Amino acid sequence: MDNPDGHETFGNNADSHAWLPFFRNHFRINRGRIALLALLLPLDVARQLLTPEILRRFIDAATGHVPQSAGRLVAVYFALVAAGLGTATLLTNVSAKLAWTSTNALRDRIVRNILHQRASFFHDAAPGELVDRIDNDTTRLGSIMSNLLLDLAAQTLLAVGIVAALFHLDWRFGALFLPFAATMLALLRRQAGRALPHIEAQRRTEARILGAVDEWTTGAEDLRTGGAVTHVRRALWDLARLEYRTGRAAAAAGVRWPATVQALSVVSILLALALGIWLHHRGSATVGTVFAALSYATLIRFPLTQIASRIQEAQAAVVSLRRVRALLENPPDHRGGAELAGTGPYDLVFEHVTFAYGDGPRVLDDVSFRLPPGKTLGVVGRTGSGKSTLIKLAFHHVAPTAGQIRIGGQDLHALDRRALRRAVAYVPQGITLFTGTLRDNLTLFAPGHDDAVLVAALREAGLGPLLESLPDGLDSHLDAGRNGLSVGEGQMLNLARAFLTEPAVVLLDEPSAQIDPHTEQTLREALHRFARGRTAIIVSHRLAALHHVDRILVLENGRAVEYGEPARLLADADSVFAGLVAQGQPPA
Ligand SMILES: Nc1ncnc2c1ncn2[C@@H]1O[C@H](COP(=O)(O)OP(=O)(O)OP(=O)(O)O)[C@@H](O)[C@H]1O
Ligand SMILES: [Mg+2]
Repeated sequence: MDNPDGHETFGNNADSHAWLPFFRNHFRINRGRIALLALLLPLDVARQLLTPEILRRFIDAATGHVPQSAGRLVAVYFALVAAGLGTATLLTNVSAKLAWTSTNALRDRIVRNILHQRASFFHDAAPGELVDRIDNDTTRLGSIMSNLLLDLAAQTLLAVGIVAALFHLDWRFGALFLPFAATMLALLRRQAGRALPHIEAQRRTEARILGAVDEWTTGAEDLRTGGAVTHVRRALWDLARLEYRTGRAAAAAGVRWPATVQALSVVSILLALALGIWLHHRGSATVGTVFAALSYATLIRFPLTQIASRIQEAQAAVVSLRRVRALLENPPDHRGGAELAGTGPYDLVFEHVTFAYGDGPRVLDDVSFRLPPGKTLGVVGRTGSGKSTLIKLAFHHVAPTAGQIRIGGQDLHALDRRALRRAVAYVPQGITLFTGTLRDNLTLFAPGHDDAVLVAALREAGLGPLLESLPDGLDSHLDAGRNGLSVGEGQMLNLARAFLTEPAVVLLDEPSAQIDPHTEQTLREALHRFARGRTAIIVSHRLAALHHVDRILVLENGRAVEYGEPARLLADADSVFAGLVAQGQPPA
């Protein structure tokens, strides 16, 4: 069940474990690469462990301690070096490809899920937070899904192997290095953990800055005309200061890490050297053995630092996993549900519909009406009375807190969202332009539309003159910035989009901004032509726009104070609608 009150939060457990098949699928698709990594990593560990041993034998052969062919050892040594280069290249390639595939598969999945969320989802999620999840969390998870765990296992194997090899050289080397390695690992893990909260804080701040910049650039014009530039600059400075503070803390915590690693390296070499010389003097260790012990002692810092940081990464990835899982489990808006029966026209029924945005006050309060099939309803009311909200409810963009909306006798909530989107066209108050051509913005990037159909839709919506004025016609570039559209043109484009879908129900929210009378006239005529034969709701700020409607709904503070045929309402001199018409004023 998806929550009808518009309160879906991250991690609604409705679809619990819906994300599991995704991960399973990922491992299935990439099993070849993962198997190759699982094979290469231990081989590489073995190679690293063997190298000092070969050098030991070579030195002992060269110094005459052990009779062995130095030439063969040199050959083996070079073979190992070559194998090392080969595996390193292959490992880097396979891991990078795997990380890329998994990160982007996850990103794609999250973006798809987010785009199918209902409007209320975006109320709960700040844009910066979504950026953080889509970008950072997926990268971390991508790494865990590619080679983090395998690498952690390989590094552990290498560390254990080194200590075992030291024991094998001389038990005293092993006895010295076992506690040393354990202590160092504990110390390194603590160091790696210290930087993490600071890095997290830094990343959150960066995400906030991204979100804020996005908001400011989108609303740049309003901010400038509203005189809010100083406020924005101050807010930017505040965020920048915060970023500096978190960044500095992260850097300060971060520098201790290389210092510890350096110290670890020096101490391990000194330990091996001191013990080696002592053993050599006592005649218990050959030069080759001392050299091999030194090599292992130098080598041990790599797996130790890797294990420490990989464990931290794995912990951070678990946090990311939780957050991403919560996103993936949030049920998309369109899943399942009944198909809409027949082809329309349908009637549209609001039955005791109440709605509030989140925990806010009631925006619609017990609204009931029945609009017969193929009829047009004009909705009037003051600014903020709930007109746009009523339209969003009819489109199931938001869901009622209480009550029911039925279309053709079927509960809107039980309908398949895609079927609903096909049957119902929503022409919102404003338009969001996407970077692309006029054609892209009209078809919303759906291919396969005939140019003649597109041009006809644009002309029908009143955009003929605009089309003629554009040098590249349908291929003219549009974006939210310099190549934008006026409010009126935007509304016409919205309408042209609706024309293309041939919907049975039309919901039109007229722009509250003033558009010039000629544009308004063109728009209105197009709209009335379009609404004919379809069930339609038109929200209008001008009573003149409602001359041809079949029903009128008057909203006051979210309550339906009047509903009926315009002629009947006008005949009653005491009706609110008659009063509005008598004033000759748009109610806004
Ligand atoms: N996304 C939202 N989140 C919270 N409250 C909202 C949201 N959208 C609208 N509201 C509130 O709901 C109430 C009704 O808004 P609505 O947009 O439905 O009014 P309207 O009648 O369409 O106004 P207008 O004539 O200005 O277009 C307003 O008080 C508004 O503040
Ligand atoms: Mg509105």
